[in-house]
Amino acid sequence: MARTRIGSDRHKEYPPLKRIPTHVAIIMDGNGRWAKQRGLPRIAGHRAGTENLRRVLRACVEFGVKVLTLYAFSTENWGRPEAEIQGLMSILRDVINRELQDLHKEGVQLRHLGDLSRIAPDLQQQVLNAIELTRDNTTLILNVAFNYGGRAEIVHAIQEIVKNGHPPEAINDELVSRYLYTGSLPDPDLIVRTSGELRLSNFLIWQGAYAEYYFSEVYWPDFGKDALYEALKHYEQRDRRYGLVK
Ligand code: IPE
Ligand code: IPE
Ligand code: MG
Repeated sequence: MARTRIGSDRHKEYPPLKRIPTHVAIIMDGNGRWAKQRGLPRIAGHRAGTENLRRVLRACVEFGVKVLTLYAFSTENWGRPEAEIQGLMSILRDVINRELQDLHKEGVQLRHLGDLSRIAPDLQQQVLNAIELTRDNTTLILNVAFNYGGRAEIVHAIQEIVKNGHPPEAINDELVSRYLYTGSLPDPDLIVRTSGELRLSNFLIWQGAYAEYYFSEVYWPDFGKDALYEALKHYEQRDRRYGLVK
């Protein structure tokens, strides 16, 4: 058996877990406070947050998670100062430019949750190209929720259902789910929020109906493999009853 080398993440051993969530969703929060703590501008926190993406993605693949959903920009985040919004847009652009080929090589299938129409046309095109390039990949499905809001998603689904002429008696849970941005993907098993905030902030409000929740005090840029493993360990202990008696 390989020895555990303390202090080195790379060689660290993570005892196998008995139950792995198929779909993990993360509210990546605390970038601003991470920066403030270091006397840096908020945007430096967002940049540090994107550096962390790679670590968490790799860890998800290694631990056997099949679908990862990341909350990157909410419909409410448009209310932030213009400079911060522009900074976040340029980070999205940079991440696609810098990471796309590697993500593709690693078998990541990229998807977008939300409304693309409000972002710059060239950036929209970049996102669509990335989705197209990776559409047949199967190692991990990565949903990026950008300009995403749970209520907007439900409103959009209702509009589409009406437009497509579904009669009232044909509308059920399954049909509504199909019309959400997540479409045929399984609901999240585990929803994680970093930075100590105990709320959903309009994230996956339909799909999270029976998710397990895990809240971590750690700010997103510092939420690495160890922290994710900790979250998965908590999930392993949960007794999912779905309203039934065991
Ligand atoms: C999360 O970090 C990233 C986005 C919402 C875009 P925040 O920017 O919310 O960081 P805090 O919560 O202010 O620390
Ligand atoms: C939620 O975080 C949105 C994202 C992480 C993208 P916020 O920081 O915007 O949420 P509130 O303001 O704390 O509810
Ligand atoms: Mg926040």
